[in-house]
Amino acid sequence: MYTGLVHAHSGLRWIALLLLVAAVLTAVMKWQGQGNYTDGNRKLYLFTLISVHLQLVIGLLLYFISPKVDFSMMSDKLYRFYTVEHISGMLVAIVLITIGYSRSKRALNASTKQRLIAIFYGLGLLLVLAMIPWPFRGLGAGLF
Ligand code: HEM
Repeated sequence: MYTGLVHAHSGLRWIALLLLVAAVLTAVMKWQGQGNYTDGNRKLYLFTLISVHLQLVIGLLLYFISPKVDFSMMSDKLYRFYTVEHISGMLVAIVLITIGYSRSKRALNASTKQRLIAIFYGLGLLLVLAMIPWPFRGLGAGLF
């Protein structure tokens, strides 16, 4: 079960990243252009939100069973990363994305809807990229 969850969490990162990049690019282009807001945009933004929420659920399960989460090992870079840094950075990113989605949905103006997604999802994307344990960071994680 643990291995399955790690693989799911690791692989889903690519779907979440792809959707985030597509959502931010779409929102920036529409915001800078005519700012029209279609059903297609809304679905893309919704699926992006769902993908990061799914990461949150799997991540929380992993947080309780992973051997890399250990509060007594804070002096070690790897344990500190998964126990404190990864979870806090990702939580902030997911909160930003969630706020962006709901504020955009409630906004009345089409251009404002796109601007809110561009800004909040853009900040979320940067944070997610910064908090992923990429192989070059030496945190014991692979690419898939
Ligand atoms: C969009 C959000 C997230 C992304 C893209 C993401 C991505 C990743 C990646 C790529 C790994 C390395 C997996 C591997 O070893 O191959 C990882 C590990 C981990 N993540 Fe996340 N994560 C996210 C959110 C979260 C959240 C919110 C939590 C906690 C609530 C969390 C908890 C963990 C834990 C505990 C591990 C270590 C698993 C292990 O190898 O034992 N993640 N995450």
